[in-house]
Amino acid sequence: MNSISVIGTGYVGLVTGTCLSEFGIRVVCMDVDAAKIQALSRGVIPIYEPGLAGLVAKNLESGRLRFTSDIAEAVAASNLIFIAVGTPPGEDGSVDMQHVLAAAASVAENMTDYKVIVNKSTVPVGTGRRVKALVRGTLERRGLAGLEFDVVSNPEFLREGSAVRDFMHPDRVVIGSESEKAANLMRDIYNVLYLIDTPFIFTTLETAELIKYASNAFLATKITFINEIANLCDAAGADVHAIAKAMGLDGRIGKYFLHPGPGYGGSCLPKDTLGLVAIGKEHGVPMSVVAAVIAANDAQTRRMIGKIEAGLGELGGRTIAVLGLSFKPETDDMRAAPSVPIIEGLIAKGCRVRAYDPVAMENAAKGALARHAGTGSFASCADEYDAAKGADAVVLLTEWNQFRHLDLQRLREAMTGRFFFDFRNVYEPKDMAERGFVYAGVGR
Ligand SMILES: NC(=O)c1ccc[n+]([C@@H]2O[C@H](COP(=O)([O-])OP(=O)(O)OC[C@H]3O[C@@H](n4cnc5c(N)ncnc54)[C@H](O)[C@@H]3O)[C@@H](O)[C@H]2O)c1
Repeated sequence: MNSISVIGTGYVGLVTGTCLSEFGIRVVCMDVDAAKIQALSRGVIPIYEPGLAGLVAKNLESGRLRFTSDIAEAVAASNLIFIAVGTPPGEDGSVDMQHVLAAAASVAENMTDYKVIVNKSTVPVGTGRRVKALVRGTLERRGLAGLEFDVVSNPEFLREGSAVRDFMHPDRVVIGSESEKAANLMRDIYNVLYLIDTPFIFTTLETAELIKYASNAFLATKITFINEIANLCDAAGADVHAIAKAMGLDGRIGKYFLHPGPGYGGSCLPKDTLGLVAIGKEHGVPMSVVAAVIAANDAQTRRMIGKIEAGLGELGGRTIAVLGLSFKPETDDMRAAPSVPIIEGLIAKGCRVRAYDPVAMENAAKGALARHAGTGSFASCADEYDAAKGADAVVLLTEWNQFRHLDLQRLREAMTGRFFFDFRNVYEPKDMAERGFVYAGVGR
């Protein structure tokens, strides 16, 4: 039976390890966070990701999946070691590589036989070579200069909220490697995907590393483009949905990622666009399109506060109900969620915010919005109708399914005002007007 180890048990590492164990591979997942590992060993998963808990429980039970905080155990368990640790943005937007380098160093300190070090984290071009040099240096220091190893780049494209399905049915698998032996071992691990005709791209380390940034930056560009068209629609009285539909029917454009909103967020697009600009700078190649996308996206989020102000007038003393905090539905991830700058902006203008999210309340309360707890300007509410109590306006920020079917009469009765800012364009402007709301969407 094939086996792998995964270092880093967050959104990507846990999904990777669990899904590969579901493919029949023996998997050891390792993390430096001992509390997380203890919980996972009991089948308690630390994130909200549909379908994941059941798979973790099933594969723990079968013995194919296990968790450890002991790096030596993880390195000894397999020849293929996936690194799936965080690569957050540094102060200047460049990619903070400390966790990847620490993970690679810990593998080098513990290996005693041939290993393939597979980088799944999103990392700047050149990282594979940097990891190679680091491992080689460590092995020489340990008197193991002759020990063979390979480094592979295998970027991940899963989306939070549909991570299990995305991992099991990817659009493509990218494998960057200079070694045929390592590439063959990777092909073996992904055998199940091979059998369902998933396209595989075998390429160099550098190309694989850049594929990930190019893909994410392009997605961010598409979102930002339609957001700007939506803003023009607002000003010119056109309907962005009809425009997006007509554009999307053009096969050269494609229909995805053409839905306007309050700006992209999450743990990937914001940091990877910043990262690509920094990587370009390092290589003396301006990433001017992506730099413009970042600026336009920041402006889009601020623009939402302007929309609320344009509707309500003076914001001081207003009560605003915010529905949805996570950066998108079906996740509890609050990293770079547009809800945070929007709520911060409303509070700075003197609003009281009453917020509700089906799963992200806990992360919001202990993370980015923690400083407002107990100040009277931010309240965590029990549900959408509780959030609407005494509100001058409702702001829909995340299109959770339960917000698509609101009891609008109940909502209206709980509010003192009539404004409904639908920043995900879930409702029809005409219907909302008929129900007595003063409605504003994005671009229609
Ligand atoms: N989250 C996504 O949707 C997504 C999608 C594709 C790619 N990625 C990329 O995958 C990587 C991981 O992202 P994530 O969202 O899973 O991160 P995460 O923050 O959820 O998880 C990272 C985990 O790594 C652990 N860790 C850090 N240093 C470690 C070390 N030296 N040894 C062992 N464990 C260590 C942390 O404790 C944490 O549990 C990033 O590079 C990200 O850009 C993320």
